[in-house]
Amino acid sequence: MIQPQIAIDGERSRIYDHIARHVLERGWCAIADVLPPELCQSLFLEAAVQARGEDFRPAGVGRQDEHRINRFVRRDQIQWLEGTTPAQQQWLGWMDGLRLHLNRQLFLGLFGFESHFARYPVGAFYRKHVDAFRGDANRVLSTVLYLNPDWSTEDGGTLVLYDGDDGSGEQRELGRFLPVFNSLVVFLSEEFPHEVLPTRRERYSIAGWFRINTSSEQRADPAR
Ligand code: OGA
Ligand code: MN
Repeated sequence: MIQPQIAIDGERSRIYDHIARHVLERGWCAIADVLPPELCQSLFLEAAVQARGEDFRPAGVGRQDEHRINRFVRRDQIQWLEGTTPAQQQWLGWMDGLRLHLNRQLFLGLFGFESHFARYPVGAFYRKHVDAFRGDANRVLSTVLYLNPDWSTEDGGTLVLYDGDDGSGEQRELGRFLPVFNSLVVFLSEEFPHEVLPTRRERYSIAGWFRINTSSEQRADPAR
């Protein structure tokens, strides 16, 4: 789909630069106040409305052919974004701007982006996992945008990011992030195990992945 071309203002390129620098230096980045707030608000309302319409489905675990629902691992519900509303198009346009910026600055060769709304009902969690497996070379960079106004520590739903195993079997905790409205966490998909601690409030986010093109002569890479 062709994204509407949105002029990249100074604020936006400053944010893109910040993300690129942190991804280059340490492989991850957490940043507050990332989108124009009205856009984040629209995305939050769309997620909440769609959740009420029961379009959300329990999320699966595993690769395409072994995709299954495992309530022990994750209890969130998801809905893929297709760019069907102006807010979704602006979101996809914003992330495409980031993709092009990262490709120019870091030569990552990012090819596509896929993202879904996620709703964690009260009590939901996502156990420690990585988003991509080494050698799979598909999901390269993970992103999570949080949509929740007025989130506080007591509400739980914290994202915990870990350093990958350094060979000692130990995983060091790198940071804890509350799913605060309009904050974004970005990290290399293969490198950083992470988990979502049980939430005490309904928790909304958009999880996304930049991919590289894994097309081969046998198999064209699908759009997601
Ligand atoms: C995921 C994920 C983290 C979060 O969807 O793969 O790890 O904070 N989400 O929602
Ligand atoms: Mn994940």
